[in-house]
Amino acid sequence: MGIDARELERFSDVDGYVADLLVREDDALRDAAAASAAAGLPQIQVTPAQGKLLHLLARMVRAGSILEVGTLGGYSTIWLARALEPGGRVVTLEIDEHFARVAGGNIEQAGLSDAVEQRVGPAADSLRALVGERAGPFDMTFIDADKKSTPEYFELALEMSRPGSVIVADNVVRGGALLEPVGDPGAEGVRRFHELLSSAPGVSATTIQTVGAKGYDGFTLALVGKRA
Ligand SMILES: C[S@@+](CC[C@H](N)C(=O)[O-])C[C@H]1O[C@@H](n2cnc3c(N)ncnc32)[C@H](O)[C@@H]1O
Repeated sequence: MGIDARELERFSDVDGYVADLLVREDDALRDAAAASAAAGLPQIQVTPAQGKLLHLLARMVRAGSILEVGTLGGYSTIWLARALEPGGRVVTLEIDEHFARVAGGNIEQAGLSDAVEQRVGPAADSLRALVGERAGPFDMTFIDADKKSTPEYFELALEMSRPGSVIVADNVVRGGALLEPVGDPGAEGVRRFHELLSSAPGVSATTIQTVGAKGYDGFTLALVGKRA
């Protein structure tokens, strides 16, 4: 669904207002975004307001272990790692070596290297390895990589969850393409993800549509319960 330039400007202005008043990025977060841009990374990280939402969710569940699929430059990783309970860790997965190097620098600059483990390679492989290592359960998982693979990442994340774990997946509405996904692998992926969610034993979920500086999209919030 198209959003015109005037609407997008309005959404961005409201995001800016919220960011100034409530989110208040500090230097480490601003520097991470700037260093990522300077290193040529695509500017597709979560917005400051979304980063704060992830941070608050992680604090609400008192997360001591967080799994992130899709590191990019580590912007959301920093928000998540800062929410950890003392001694906690984030495991974050990224396919691109250059992106992962930039993220490593940003995470170090933020003073969070001890709390973050980066794994480089296709996320499905890394997730299967983590399952094999019995690395779970993770208290919270944030899925934000290639959208066509969101269903596979969800199923693997579920294997590393426990009753009470929270799974968040970003960009699941895709401007409404969720409703007519044919021929769009990302939209087909998030459609399949919703179908999986609707039948996953013990999982309770909802999807919230969002507008903001990044246009019209949405995220899913899922709570894992007792599995049959
Ligand atoms: C939307 S960005 C992540 C943004 C990041 N979570 C943030 O908000 O700061 C998606 C990332 O997933 C990575 N990615 C894409 N396909 C992947 C795959 N198959 N395995 C692992 N990472 C992948 C991309 O290289 C990109 O860095």
